[in-house]
Amino acid sequence: MFKYSITKKQVYALVLESKKITYKPRQKNYSVKKIISKKELLYTYDSSLEKIIRTNFHLNSDLKILMESYLQIIFNKSKYPYIFGHLAQTLDGYIATESGESRYISSIDNLEHLHMLRAISDVVLVGSNTVKFDNPKLTTRLVKGPNPMRVVIDKNDTVKNSCNLLKNKDRKGFKIVSDKLKPNDENIFLLPLKKDEFRITDIISLLKSLGNKIIFIEGGGNIISHFYRKKFLHRLHLCISPILIGRGINSFIIDKDVKINEAKIKKISYIKMGKDILCNIKLPS
Ligand SMILES: NC(=O)c1ccc[n+]([C@@H]2O[C@H](COP(=O)([O-])OP(=O)(O)OC[C@H]3O[C@@H](n4cnc5c(N)ncnc54)[C@H](OP(=O)(O)O)[C@@H]3O)[C@@H](O)[C@H]2O)c1
Repeated sequence: MFKYSITKKQVYALVLESKKITYKPRQKNYSVKKIISKKELLYTYDSSLEKIIRTNFHLNSDLKILMESYLQIIFNKSKYPYIFGHLAQTLDGYIATESGESRYISSIDNLEHLHMLRAISDVVLVGSNTVKFDNPKLTTRLVKGPNPMRVVIDKNDTVKNSCNLLKNKDRKGFKIVSDKLKPNDENIFLLPLKKDEFRITDIISLLKSLGNKIIFIEGGGNIISHFYRKKFLHRLHLCISPILIGRGINSFIIDKDVKINEAKIKKISYIKMGKDILCNIKLPS
C-alpha cells in the first residue's frame, strides 16, 4: 500500500502535538494523530521499547530516529521529573574556547534540534557561566513550539536582570539564588546552600513544585556534570562537531576510576545533523 512520505517540519508538528497528550508513567502505547497538509497522520509509540511501532505514513530511518529522540523524552516512564541535557562539543571534547566562545560549535540543523528540545520541555536550566558568556535567549524561535520556563542557577545573584534570559516579555525567566541574600526581585527563587552549593535534590524539588515534569539542562559542562555525578541525568544528547580547538572549556567531567568495559554506554543512537553527529545516550539512573 502506498504511504505518504513526511518531511522534517511535519515530524516537528506531530511531535509538538504529542506534547499536548497527558503522559502517564504506566502507559505503554501512545497513539497520536494530527491533520497536516489535509492528511490525517497517525502513529503509535511503544514507551517500553522506546520506538515508533506503527505509522500510516512513510518515515525514512533518519527521521524515525529523530522523531523517537523527542518521543523518548515526552513519553518517558519516570515517576519523577525527567531530566536530560544537551551539549555541542568539538572533536577534542570542548564546549567553548578558553575565552568562553561557543557560538556556534554546531550546525544550524543542531540548533533547530535544540529549539525543538526546548519546545518539548517544561523548563530549561543553565549554569551562571553560560548566561555570563553566551547571554542566551533560550526561546524556541526556530520552531513553532511554546517557550518553556527558563532558569539560571546563580547563587550569588551576579547575573544581571538585563540579560536576555530574564528580560524577555513572556516573563518566564528566573534565577535561583542563595536564601542568605534577600533580593526583592520578582523573578527569583531562594534555596539554601550546603557546602557553598545548592543540593541537586533541592533544585529538582523546587522545579517540580512549580509543575515542571520535563527538565532540560542546556549547559554548560559544569552543571551537567553535577547532575550526572549525582545520577539525576536520564539522558544526554551529545552533539559532536568537526572542529578541533586544542584547548578550551571541558564538555563534562566525570570523577571516577572506571574500567573501559564497565564504562561502555549500552543504549545509544546516532543522528546525523548537518556535518555533526548527535549521540542520543540513555544513561543508567
Ligand atoms: N557548546 C555547548 O553546548 C554549550 C552549552 C552551554 C554553554 N556553553 C559554554 O560553556 C561555558 C560555560 O560552561 P561551564 O561549564 O563553565 O559553566 P556552567 O555550567 O554554565 O555554570 C557553572 C556555574 O553554575 C553554578 N552552579 C552550577 N551548579 C551549581 C550548584 N549545584 N549550586 C550552585 N551553583 C551551581 C556555579 O556558579 P557560581 O558558583 O559562579 O555561582 C558554577 O560555577 C560558556 O563558555 C558557554 O559559552 C556551551
